[in-house]
Amino acid sequence: MHSLILFASGRGSNVQAIIDFFKEKEVVKIALIVCNNTLAGVLDIARQHDIPVLLVNKKDFLSPDFLKKLKACNPSLIALAGFLWKIPEEVVHAFPGKIINIHPALLPKYGGKGMYGARVHEAVKAAGETETGITIHFIDEHYDKGSIILQAFCPVCTADTPEKIADNVHYLEHYYFPRAIEFLLGNKQF
Ligand code: GRF
Repeated sequence: MHSLILFASGRGSNVQAIIDFFKEKEVVKIALIVCNNTLAGVLDIARQHDIPVLLVNKKDFLSPDFLKKLKACNPSLIALAGFLWKIPEEVVHAFPGKIINIHPALLPKYGGKGMYGARVHEAVKAAGETETGITIHFIDEHYDKGSIILQAFCPVCTADTPEKIADNVHYLEHYYFPRAIEFLLGNKQF
């Protein structure tokens, strides 16, 4: 059984998609959800599925104890599913090739600090892009800069609002993120 740690601080729709995908498979145990937002929808999801949560403030997050708690879960993979803080360097270095992120656009476009949520889709719309998508990538010490594992695309039509673009992008995320995790854990090819 692989141990998976998820970092999430938002609605948690990607966490839900990952839970649903692995429910019947018995190859992955979500050992921990790390969250920095006491109001996050993902906390309800964790409660419903009895998944342990580590709620962190900035001080906890930067303390050596945080890394110890992650190591105690012996994770095969750590997946960031809507987590906005930059991961401390000690953590990045402690899990080489084992921390991935999902970004709701085609990096390197529309990435970097402050580029998250609705802002990304508004920027895509304002630029008149005819396509957008998702990027799943390894993380390094910089925002949205690590090696890309996969990108998936969707068209942007002239009539699409940023909300409609967000829905299309979420659809891609929910399909590809669990499968990318499964692929990286070595259980199945795409
Ligand atoms: C997703 O769009 C993901 O790309 C980004 O944060 C969002 C999280 O959404 N990193 P949710 O909380 O999983 O619904």
